[in-house]
Amino acid sequence: MTSTIPRALYVHIPWCVRKCPYCDFNSHEQSDPPFERYGQALLTDLDTDLTRYGEVPFTSVFLGGGTPSLMPPEALWPLFDALHRRGLIDLSTEITLEANPGTRDLGHLSGYRALGINRLSIGVQSFQAPQLEALGRIHNAEDARAMVAEAKVAGFDRINIDLMHGTPGQTAEAALADLQVIEALGIRHLSWYQLTIEANTAFYSSPPKLPDESTLEATDSAGHQFIEAMGLVHYEVSAYAVPGEEARHNVNYWEFGDYLGLGAGAHGKLTVGDQVIRTQRTRHPRHYLNRVDSAAQESPLPPDHLGAECLLNGLRLKAGISEKLFHERTGLDPIHYRRANLAKADELGLLEPGRFQATPLGWRHLNHVLEMLV
Ligand SMILES: C[S@@+](CC[C@H](N)C(=O)[O-])C[C@H]1O[C@@H](n2cnc3c(N)ncnc32)[C@H](O)[C@@H]1O
Ligand code: SF4
Repeated sequence: MTSTIPRALYVHIPWCVRKCPYCDFNSHEQSDPPFERYGQALLTDLDTDLTRYGEVPFTSVFLGGGTPSLMPPEALWPLFDALHRRGLIDLSTEITLEANPGTRDLGHLSGYRALGINRLSIGVQSFQAPQLEALGRIHNAEDARAMVAEAKVAGFDRINIDLMHGTPGQTAEAALADLQVIEALGIRHLSWYQLTIEANTAFYSSPPKLPDESTLEATDSAGHQFIEAMGLVHYEVSAYAVPGEEARHNVNYWEFGDYLGLGAGAHGKLTVGDQVIRTQRTRHPRHYLNRVDSAAQESPLPPDHLGAECLLNGLRLKAGISEKLFHERTGLDPIHYRRANLAKADELGLLEPGRFQATPLGWRHLNHVLEMLV
């Protein structure tokens, strides 16, 4: 494996105003979170990880949650000061923060921009009142539109919107109405997720009535056509962007790049010598803040899982990954790996020759291809 594997930084902010019934992220309802203390803990994590894994500039930074837009910019200052001072980020680094329209605050947005954050990912989910209510969201459509406008005023010209479809009671027409708003707002990056029912969520214990299979199919195909017609290219299972506007941070995950994970429950992935290790920090924010050791727990990835882990990510990209990249990230011989593990997929015409990329047929049956890997 080469030592030039790009390294990104993920920072987890674990609190939300209210827990959404579909969400299994490490997010906790809390009215007055200890942001300042948390900001200091993030800095301790950074120091610990840089000492342990070496100091390499980050190719991108992502503050995810939870609801990072709850965090006052001042509480993030110690972390960003260290990142700038130590030359770990510069003006060209993509730095994204996830925001919930129910927490909109122009002062916060301007403060994030001043820290060097240059991309906002807004969790809108829908612009229709019945859907927002069914999803237990804390905001209305007007808050979402206003947040986009305020983000532009604050100087964000890279904005992603998260939408969900296949939500309780949603018709294909309602899903298209959401996409029309995306077009009217001139959004250049869209994450369009189909609702999944996850264990340990309120929707799992008390399942809502979801649209039937034919509505889901109609939504998917009409939605996909609509998004592409507005000039956004489908580049990953759920991601669409104007060419050049792809989320560099997420592409690094899909290309099996490295990343450090700071904050409660944050995961990391690092290549150390010829080993890949996964890291995870204490999950619950209270335990995380009371810990005595700031080091993340490490677990080496078994060498016989490396190829599958790399491709479970890489094949989610429409363009897939090259054999060269596969070799750089795993140390494995791509030809040999393919012959031993993906002969069936090749036989069925699900993969392009000479590259780890789904064919149009393979793309339609991507889950089937991914199952062959595990
Ligand atoms: C961490 S949240 C984003 C920011 C912020 N917490 C918010 O919700 O406004 C990441 C995104 O994942 C998507 N998501 C979460 N749970 C999901 C589920 N069960 N099915 C599909 N998409 C989901 C939502 O679109 C959500 O915006
Ligand atoms: S979807 Fe976002 S706002 Fe809702 S609970 Fe999850 S992290 Fe919090």
